[in-house]
Amino acid sequence: MKHLLKMLDLTTDEILDLLNLADQLKYERKHHIPHPHLAGKTLGMIFQKASTRTRVSFETGMTQLGGYPLFLSANDMQIGRGEPVQDTARVLSRYLDGIMIRTFAQQEVEDLAKYGTIPIINGLTDFCHPCQVLADLMTVREYKGSFEGLKMCYIGDGNNMANSLIVGGLKVGMKVAVACPNNYQPDQKVLDFANPTGKFTLTDKPIEAAVDADVIFTDVWASMGQEHEAEKRKLAFDGYQVNDELLSAAHPECMVQHCLPAHRGEEITAEVFEAHANEIFDEAENRLHAQKAVLVKTLGNNEN
Ligand code: CP
Ligand code: NVA
Repeated sequence: MKHLLKMLDLTTDEILDLLNLADQLKYERKHHIPHPHLAGKTLGMIFQKASTRTRVSFETGMTQLGGYPLFLSANDMQIGRGEPVQDTARVLSRYLDGIMIRTFAQQEVEDLAKYGTIPIINGLTDFCHPCQVLADLMTVREYKGSFEGLKMCYIGDGNNMANSLIVGGLKVGMKVAVACPNNYQPDQKVLDFANPTGKFTLTDKPIEAAVDADVIFTDVWASMGQEHEAEKRKLAFDGYQVNDELLSAAHPECMVQHCLPAHRGEEITAEVFEAHANEIFDEAENRLHAQKAVLVKTLGNNEN
């Protein structure tokens, strides 16, 4: 695998290979089996937005793989002062073995891959969050054993998380039901992929989407960069909350997942969050294992 830019680029086999490797790396870590697949390699990590999980999972993951993670705050780089991404890509390709970037525009990530010569990993854009969704799929499979016959439900904003969950869920064979307000639907490219599968439904009625769900996902109503819309969005997303009433429509053993950070009392109640905290923090832990799988598949020598 050359890059990880978005879930739309991955085949089902590539996703399953990543999940299998993530499971293996998790097992090895739990059993103190070293796995220095990236000894001597350096990963640059460019952040235009805040991060806890993505930064720490990539940074520790790279270290555990024997490599070196280099944190690069975009504010302190020339890219933050307008140096073109084409030039940044070509310069950094001469120093680094790979780049993980968190930014706003998906085009910036695609351009890094186009103009650079090293693997590029998308650590979240306004369009998608593929690293998170690999950890999410890993967690669902861990709890449910397989994806066979499962229904995934997403409630809330048709944002980066929705876009990646829809594509990832469908590619591994789950049914996917989404409930969003009409003005906050997923990206058209994602809908164009999802609709012909025959396994996708989109509604503005949360309870309808939650019926018989095996896993319910949600995410914040105002993403990074949309803070100024928070009040308007609170009104628009009224009723799009993961709460006990919504869960009563789902399968009795329905999981709840949240990429975090969570806003209790908005997209999820404190009660539901705490009742499903083990699943949610396993999901957060799996960022580490899934990110390491991505690093090995992109920066590694393909021995795995
Ligand atoms: N879920 C996630 O990407 O978290 P961070 O914003 O903390 O990296
Ligand atoms: N949709 C959220 C996800 C954070 C991990 C955001 O973009 O801020």
